[in-house]
Amino acid sequence: MHFSDAFPSRRGPAATDADASLRSPHAIDALGHRRGARVLLVDDEPEVLGLVRTILERAGYAVTSAPNLERAVGALSSAPFELVLTDLYLGDTELGHQIAEVARSRRPHTPVVVMTGRPTFDAAQGALRHRVDDIVVKPVDPDHLIATCRRVIRDTDLARRNQELESANRVLTSVLPRTIEMKDPTTSGHAARVVGYTDTLAARCGVDAEQRASLRLAALLHDIGKIGVPDSILRKPGPLTPDEMEVVKRHPAMGYEVLAPLAEHGDVRDWVYQHHERWDGKGYPQGLAGEEVALPGRILVLAEVYDALVEERSYKPAWPVERIVALFREQAGRHFDPDLARLVADGLERQGKRFFAAAAGQLF
Ligand SMILES: [Fe+2]
Repeated sequence: MHFSDAFPSRRGPAATDADASLRSPHAIDALGHRRGARVLLVDDEPEVLGLVRTILERAGYAVTSAPNLERAVGALSSAPFELVLTDLYLGDTELGHQIAEVARSRRPHTPVVVMTGRPTFDAAQGALRHRVDDIVVKPVDPDHLIATCRRVIRDTDLARRNQELESANRVLTSVLPRTIEMKDPTTSGHAARVVGYTDTLAARCGVDAEQRASLRLAALLHDIGKIGVPDSILRKPGPLTPDEMEVVKRHPAMGYEVLAPLAEHGDVRDWVYQHHERWDGKGYPQGLAGEEVALPGRILVLAEVYDALVEERSYKPAWPVERIVALFREQAGRHFDPDLARLVADGLERQGKRFFAAAAGQLF
């Protein structure tokens, strides 16, 4: 989706100052132009201030002007701006850069454009050093000025939204798995390792890139339903009673429920729901058999068991590879997809644990 698709087009007839102040600062027109965005304009020459203000206001910006550093700092302290447009030289000193620093200290995402009648290499270097977003040469060309403002505001919006998405993504791919491990410390690092095993196996089986991405997410979150299992059961030192086993067996369904907001990731939810199913239909929660679980889901089933076997757990030592190979051969067509189980058994026999350590690019 293009950024501007997320917002209604609000370009109306000729814009007036009143329009500008009434418009939502979040409205963006078809060209990605943020209408009514607040601009702080700083210049010590009243003539320039008036001219640039007119250009900006005609383009729909809500302009606050300041003739000096003091007034600019005051304005920055009292209101947020989507852009600071400042003369580089206020009097004889490069106060434009100071304004850039102050603007960022108030709001880190405030973009700054400097205007200068003396464009030199030093000025460009200074602008770079002070993380100024762009330089406009005076006397300003109205079209160029507006195009620059529009681009800088849009780029800043995109950068901020990307950062928000990255944070949300980190919650999903880092915070949630840590939460699962805090709940069930016996499986420390389990989810991250299963991601690696499933992805290696999926690549070997020719699963396409899009499904592999979904499978990595499913592998990372497969035990998230354990959040709903009481600690007294999850951390019980001895064997579980049949009733307690029934509670544990609810975790795939609870995981499916927890992930309900991931509506566009139906397959991720399915594979989480199915990660304790078996090829022979004797698994849970649905007792699905054979290809009723899609290949990525069957890969997750096997990779999850592999990690449980190859790692030491509180109730068992780490199994040697030969013993795992024997189990996969024995369980081919029972617990596991027979082709998959044989592929893994052969691979482990040939390469040992390195079979699962191959980087995606070195698989074939
Ligand atoms: Fe599980």
